[in-house]
Amino acid sequence: MASSLRKPLIAGNWKMHLTLAESVALAKAVKDGSANAPGEVAVFAPFTALSVVAEVLKGSPVRLGAQDLHWETHGAYTGEVSANQIKDVGCQMTLIAHSERRRLFHETDENVNKKLKAAFAAGLVPVLCVGETLEEREAQRTFKVLQTQLEEGLKGFAPAALAPLVIAYEPVWAIGTGKTATPDQAQEAHLFIRKTCARLYGEAWASGLRILYGGSVTPENVDTLMAQPDVDGALVGGASLKVPGFIRIIQFQLPAGAKR
Ligand code: PGA
Repeated sequence: MASSLRKPLIAGNWKMHLTLAESVALAKAVKDGSANAPGEVAVFAPFTALSVVAEVLKGSPVRLGAQDLHWETHGAYTGEVSANQIKDVGCQMTLIAHSERRRLFHETDENVNKKLKAAFAAGLVPVLCVGETLEEREAQRTFKVLQTQLEEGLKGFAPAALAPLVIAYEPVWAIGTGKTATPDQAQEAHLFIRKTCARLYGEAWASGLRILYGGSVTPENVDTLMAQPDVDGALVGGASLKVPGFIRIIQFQLPAGAKR
């Protein structure tokens, strides 16, 4: 289901890295390196750096995102950050349910659902992360896990509300391990995600939905991953911290005869 309607999106997830000075330097390099990129570009910076990175990216097409949010608008939630605060600091996007949050910080599908609602209410574009662990893949449970994460996470929305949503397929076994999913494995999972979304909320929405691949994306493998018809972009962790490698990922090149 290739679609030229789906503008590719390459996003860097900086995780818990970088000082303010390092964040500013990297944001400048990403901004400069994004000129004439084939798709959209975004960076998900740590909360501490959002304000300075927003300043660097002002007026540029590079979009800024947070890595998580709380579902309430305000209140006594020490240590948390709301969607409105994220928007106020200059973000257009936010990650939700990264596997590190699911695995290390007990993120549940019920909370993911509330976070999605909060992001939409604030006008943020959420990138909902889904993906299976190695044990789940080896037990042939990949599709079941993806289905549950999608059904529970996306429960109860009016289809129109979901229009801005982006999904990131990030197999947990591929994150930070150097073990990338093969292009065929990525395509198979992305197609399953798109079909599940079509069943839940209709073909029209699902065919325009952008699904990013994440998990050990590098300058060496980005082109073949992006050539898959249902891979609409990449969510890049480790390799997004290094220039010029990340610039090469942003400037991916589709091999001749690619289907998308
Ligand atoms: P990685 O991380 O590229 O370092 O594997 C991807 C992610 O966690 O989003």
